[in-house]
Amino acid sequence: MTTAVYPGSFDPVTLGHLDIIERTARMFDHVIVGVLQNNSKTPLFSVEERVNMVRSIISHLENVEVRSFDGLLVDFVHQCGADVVVRGLRAITDFEYELQMAQTNRVIAPDVDTIFLTTNLRYSYLSSSIVKEIASYDGDIDAFLHPDIACQVRERIRQNKEKSRA
Ligand code: PNS
Repeated sequence: MTTAVYPGSFDPVTLGHLDIIERTARMFDHVIVGVLQNNSKTPLFSVEERVNMVRSIISHLENVEVRSFDGLLVDFVHQCGADVVVRGLRAITDFEYELQMAQTNRVIAPDVDTIFLTTNLRYSYLSSSIVKEIASYDGDIDAFLHPDIACQVRERIRQNKEKSRA
């Protein structure tokens, strides 16, 4: 059985992420979406919220599960019994960071390979950070996120604004 891990922060999960998950699910028997718990960036959503958000939009994919992880990605990949990491490549600007990460991971875990899927052109410009920035200025984020996720992002940003005014 072939198992792939698709790791990320998913803060929040976008339609670009969903596209990669769906395509990966067609290529591997089993896909584990790994949601990074301990990120240096302060996330908009807790890791539990991010896991639940991804779960809520992948219920149509029977061979995909979602787990959180902390620590090294390669340790998580081993725990999952996987040997392939999948990452999406949007543009050349992603390449340097992704190559560095893939090569470092391969040095510390030679049995783990990274494969890259080029992002669907529709989402080649899309990132969670840009979506959050647009939402923070009350811009329209409906083209970038599943409707349920878009609702949660708007609500969280509204709550955060209210808190910062209080
Ligand atoms: O969605 P992101 O933020 O681009 O995902 C980055 C992620 C989670 C893949 C990366 O930060 C990661 O693997 N973190 C775990 C810690 C680790 O293994 N670091 C060494 C990688 S060279």
